[in-house]
Amino acid sequence: MSAAAPAISAGSPCQVKGREKTVDGVTYICRNAKGKLVWRRSPLVSQEQIITVRVLESAALEIGKTSIVSVPLPTGGSSGVVVTRTDAGITALSVNCTHAGFPVARVGKLLECELHGSQFDPTTGSVITGPASRSLLRYDATESNGGIYVTIRSY
Ligand code: FES
Repeated sequence: MSAAAPAISAGSPCQVKGREKTVDGVTYICRNAKGKLVWRRSPLVSQEQIITVRVLESAALEIGKTSIVSVPLPTGGSSGVVVTRTDAGITALSVNCTHAGFPVARVGKLLECELHGSQFDPTTGSVITGPASRSLLRYDATESNGGIYVTIRSY
């Protein structure tokens, strides 16, 4: 009969750096700590955090109009969101230009970044004019109970 495996707990000695073991649902990793190899709890897998915020009253956004709102982030701080209503529905996009992060603004029918002149389609976020090459980040937008809601996921 083989001897029972030694119990693992955070701080108890281990043999092979980088080895992982899971005990009772907790994963430990063998790490070097001050010259000794010891078990450490593996960092918690970061959980996706989702927040849905009522950003505008429905009546405040007519068809063809854009409004820029600030949405608090689950991880702290806030994020600027460009909300546009068209015949096709409501689009919510990050206010930050994908070129170098400067905030975009509605100019005529487009969203424009005045720093280097990129232009984006407010209904999809896609690039109309560079130097930006990637679409604006898009968020889920819904409308119910007379309000417009934006859902932001962060990690
Ligand atoms: S930061 Fe927007 S075009 Fe450069």
